[in-house]
Amino acid sequence: MMDTSSKRKALSRPLRKPEHRSAKTVKSDTRLLDAEQFLLPTYKRQPVVMTHGRGAYVFDSTGKKYLDFLGGIAVNALGHAHPRIVKVIRREAARAIHVSNLFHNAYQGPLARKLAGWSGMDRVFFSNSGTEAIDGAMKLARLYGRKPDEVAGTTAKKHRFLALENSFHGRTFGAVSVTSTEKYRLPFAPVIPGAEFVRFNDVADLEAKFDDTICAILLETVQGEGGIYPVSEVFWNRARALATQHGALLIADEIQCGLGRTGRYFACQKFSSKPDIVLIAKPLAAGLPLGAILTTQEVASRVSPGMHGTTFGGGPLACAVALEFLKIVEDEKLLENIRARGDELREGLAKLAAQCNFIREIRGEGLMIGVELSVEGGPFVSEAMQRGLLINCTHDFTLLLLPPFIITRAQVREFLRLLELVLATTPQQASDLDSAKSADLKRVAHATAR
Ligand SMILES: Cc1ncc(COP(=O)(O)O)c(C=O)c1O
Repeated sequence: MMDTSSKRKALSRPLRKPEHRSAKTVKSDTRLLDAEQFLLPTYKRQPVVMTHGRGAYVFDSTGKKYLDFLGGIAVNALGHAHPRIVKVIRREAARAIHVSNLFHNAYQGPLARKLAGWSGMDRVFFSNSGTEAIDGAMKLARLYGRKPDEVAGTTAKKHRFLALENSFHGRTFGAVSVTSTEKYRLPFAPVIPGAEFVRFNDVADLEAKFDDTICAILLETVQGEGGIYPVSEVFWNRARALATQHGALLIADEIQCGLGRTGRYFACQKFSSKPDIVLIAKPLAAGLPLGAILTTQEVASRVSPGMHGTTFGGGPLACAVALEFLKIVEDEKLLENIRARGDELREGLAKLAAQCNFIREIRGEGLMIGVELSVEGGPFVSEAMQRGLLINCTHDFTLLLLPPFIITRAQVREFLRLLELVLATTPQQASDLDSAKSADLKRVAHATAR
């Protein structure tokens, strides 16, 4: 038997030999050239080919090792190549990857039971992604809002959605309609009409905009892409009360903040009242595409066969892996690890903030942390990459830290050492009044809404 420290060391070693390519050959790498020529240009990708990962580290085709505090954008909660996940994937790939939803498979029911247990919800629908879960939930809200005497095909009185300013819910038409960031929504107008945005954590604005035409309010319990902003208890409770009063649904988008990331199974479990729907995806199947709508029996009772569906969602391979993921979170007591490592990270970041006048605020819960800067964050992301650290930046000024749930105390220390170097060596353009000014404007906009 390997002891824990040998296991961790083994996990940080590369799985196979690097391809030993120089930076120059990477530039002429045919895989990058193919991508540049043939892919739809939807992403500004870094010019590296990531080939594999072990635990909290990921490796590129030159063999360079990175400490992964991006986690595939909050997906790789168990890091890379977790032995139990690898074992289940091997086993199930040799059995059945897909059988269709016209039959049962061995894992969908048990996984739904487990998720119901974690969330306190009654019924589950499996999707392939977060955005698809959002669209499904919006359809459920429309069904729930439609009165029996309202003829199908007509616009029901209760058909509008409320969402929050600074929200991000995904890229399909339903999801972009309730995503406030204009660059994601406006090019595709007209989106679903009638969606309205409430100022973040602003109860008065919520009360002014909630009426009987609203079928649901959607909110990220902790806004992720928006820069790590938790919904306040007062706002949540008022949203709950107004939804109940107007016969609308409270939908918690926990696609990024759910399934343990904040140190609880679901971020909304810190509140005393429950939503009607919880949406999950990202880490659910440890990197395989799987999302889910979790809801109450009351909402589920409006659904009948044929109203909603999916070809791939809830297949045996993805569900077996998701079931294993949830068991690993329990068996390895990862919620405790998330809370402890999260506290260490915030403590270390606070010390760095005391040395860096351009760190303006540290926000977040568990292993979902935003570091807001008064200068542009992009150069820090590039410098971090040079130094073997993966982090992300959102809305230009906020560094996003989303390390895996299995992160160790030593890796937190390694991260803080690397970040200190990154912060010290990146040119800060602190005198760039324009960027400082626009950071201020954004802060003011958000602060007034809190
Ligand atoms: C809070 C939130 N909701 C929805 C989505 C969309 O999920 P997906 O990219 O799986 O469609 C994301 C993705 O980043 C998200 O962070």
